[in-house]
Amino acid sequence: MGISKIAKSLTHSATLKLNEKAAILRQKGESIIHLGGGEPLADPPAIAISAVQDLLKSGKIRYAPAGGTRKLKQAIVQYTHKYYQKDIGEENVIATVGAKQALFLALQSIINPGDEVIFPAPYWVSYPEMVKICGGVPKSVIPEVDIFHPSIEDIQKFATKRTKAIILNSPNNPSGSIYSENFIADVITFSEKNNLYIIMDDIYQRLVFDSKTAASSLKLVKKSIENCKLITVNGVSKQYAMTGFRLGWAVGNSKVIKSMIKLQAHQTTAPSLLADTAATAALNGNQLDVEKLRTSLENKRNFLVSSLNGMDGIKVFQPEGTYYCFTDFGNYNNDSAKLAEFLIDTAQVITVPGIAFGIDGFLRISFCRSISEITEGVERIKHALRNKYPTK
Ligand SMILES: Cc1ncc(COP(=O)(O)O)c(C=O)c1O
Repeated sequence: MGISKIAKSLTHSATLKLNEKAAILRQKGESIIHLGGGEPLADPPAIAISAVQDLLKSGKIRYAPAGGTRKLKQAIVQYTHKYYQKDIGEENVIATVGAKQALFLALQSIINPGDEVIFPAPYWVSYPEMVKICGGVPKSVIPEVDIFHPSIEDIQKFATKRTKAIILNSPNNPSGSIYSENFIADVITFSEKNNLYIIMDDIYQRLVFDSKTAASSLKLVKKSIENCKLITVNGVSKQYAMTGFRLGWAVGNSKVIKSMIKLQAHQTTAPSLLADTAATAALNGNQLDVEKLRTSLENKRNFLVSSLNGMDGIKVFQPEGTYYCFTDFGNYNNDSAKLAEFLIDTAQVITVPGIAFGIDGFLRISFCRSISEITEGVERIKHALRNKYPTK
């Protein structure tokens, strides 16, 4: 059919595929409980909505500059100062079509064919596919001692002469764990010694619980932004409940940012001016919505964890942030894809199989939906497993 080798080598995004499946089953009238997604129920900040309404009323919806408007870049400079205590300039910032595109542009800017990119498992589903699309070789590392908290030894074992970059995501999707400051500092030292890039995906940075904070390489790095090979990715999707706006950003040295802007100019031209305007308003707003979302997620996390703790045969790990609880169901079935399918077919509950994140035997269960959906979903899972595995 003339489809390229790279396109053929890619797997579908497990999470987006499940969203489609849920929509189809709902259309057929099935009562689906969707605990597989990564979208909060909250509305975007009102200030973001009214900024877009004002722009729409003006009718002046033109192309934004390729790296985003100056107003948005200034808001990101201030965000970086506030949340990372780092002073950067507008030349260190690019606004993109979601954090996903920021990650893509970062990889496209630094990878040559055959270059290897290391990331700890469990990892976000798109990392391996993004690396492959860029002609690189993904190297996922399953941490040896504690899969929720990788160590520098785990990374070192996979580093070769072809290694170009390390991707870190903390708080982590799907594990919900926060990587330790020591680990991130070790990765900085190792990368500086070996001339590697770090791509730090901080999309859940502010969605942390139990009064914890998430360390980030941008906070810890001693060198100035211009002198380090560090690309930090963030966005409005998760923290401001603005998933549909598709607005993310990256912060890095001006050379890499310039290259990312050049690529973006040829790919999407720029993020939509509507999204750019909404994100600027959200970033410059009072931030109460972020705290409201964070608190509600923490309550739902507590609720989900205590509901799951009442279930026999599983191992529950308390998430320290994000929207997700990565739970070990290996006692029931170590084939997580089969188990997730069984739960859809018999309980009409959607979860995401751990294998999509590089670790089999686990299911990712989201706690970003309502308490009643979480209650019903967990009850249905318990019931279905009890019937199928009465001796567990
Ligand atoms: C770890 C991680 N990085 C990046 C993204 C992409 O975010 P965006 O919606 O801004 O493209 C997601 C979305 O689920 C994610 O979980």
